[in-house]
Amino acid sequence: FKTLDDLDVTGKTVLVRVDYNVPLRDGRVTDATRIERSKPTVDDLAERGAKVVLLAHFGRPKGQSDDRLSLGPVTEAATAVLERPVAFADNCIGPAAEAAVAKLAPGNVLLLENLRFHAGEEGNDPGFADSLAKLGDIYVDDAFSAAHRAHASVEGLARRLPAAAGRLMQQELEALSRALEKPERPVAAIVGGAKVSTKLDLLGNLVGKVQLLVVGGGMANTFLHALGVDVGASLCEADMADTVTDIVKAAKANDCDILLPTDALIAAELKANTPYETVSIKNVPSDRMILDVGPATAEHIAKRLGACKTLVWNGPLGAFEFPPFDSGTNLVAEAAADLTRDGRLLTVAGGGDTVAALANAQALERFSYVSTAGGAFLEWLEGKTLPGVKALQDAGSPAV
Ligand code: 3PG
Repeated sequence: FKTLDDLDVTGKTVLVRVDYNVPLRDGRVTDATRIERSKPTVDDLAERGAKVVLLAHFGRPKGQSDDRLSLGPVTEAATAVLERPVAFADNCIGPAAEAAVAKLAPGNVLLLENLRFHAGEEGNDPGFADSLAKLGDIYVDDAFSAAHRAHASVEGLARRLPAAAGRLMQQELEALSRALEKPERPVAAIVGGAKVSTKLDLLGNLVGKVQLLVVGGGMANTFLHALGVDVGASLCEADMADTVTDIVKAAKANDCDILLPTDALIAAELKANTPYETVSIKNVPSDRMILDVGPATAEHIAKRLGACKTLVWNGPLGAFEFPPFDSGTNLVAEAAADLTRDGRLLTVAGGGDTVAALANAQALERFSYVSTAGGAFLEWLEGKTLPGVKALQDAGSPAV
């Protein structure tokens, strides 16, 4: 696909799909990471004299206007973070949007109201995509984290205007490709989180691609249970036993080593600073829950990572929101960060909770690459083709 380097943007109106689906509390953005990560694209375009029109969604308003999901409050944060004035239009199509675009001078930036106030966005409606397309000359997709949605602003636009990937999209795709498509081996994956059932496709894909698969979090209990270990009162999907057996078989057939906890932190309830014990995984009492991997397991994972060249991390190893059940994640994250610093391990992480868990471990900035994507990162780990990426690839668009 094309990138910003392939475009002549001077004096042109460039529609840039960004992901400004950021956390907002009392009208203020509490984490502006996604806005920060869009800055290189906005800077590049504005400095080259493009009129920059930012398209974004916010929350899930289901095709209707909803004041609580307006991108208005995000405009203020965008102005601060992008370090340039960002104008706002209270509709993403129609006269309000057209008038706001008409007012732009080269180098100006405009953010349009929530795309999802129109049902045509999620429906990838041709009429809606046409209304967006007529606002600009060129389309740039910088929203990898929304690339799993075949929506009008993601998919439809790329098929209507000359299309290119923005800097963040480019960076995400390059990092992800280095992690799984063309990685340096051995490759390890850490997969955590509550349920096996939500990560079946992901596990199925990974066992064919990585040499070491570390399973943590609630998911590990389901694996242990399926292998005949008594996990006491732990979160466990007993009905997934056959599925787990299949995953274990597929792993063996592909020379992928699955690493499960050998010890654990257990407690009677899930609460911060609740009394806990460290036990062998074989000795979990029936009234206790496994809430984190134990220190021996964490040390062992760290040691095994020392022999790997690439790590993909999705999901915490324990209930990290409730210390001390962040200990396992913290220890392994620290080890991975050290290996990254020494140039021995390429570390790529992503997906909702993972970023919070690594931030809690103070390891986030020390990883090679942290994706801004939640659901899109998961779908990519599942080996799926993301419609937004496919549309860019197909575009191979006419020279502009
Ligand atoms: C995200 O926050 O992961 C993206 O913005 C996609 O949002 P969605 O799950 O509402 O499509």
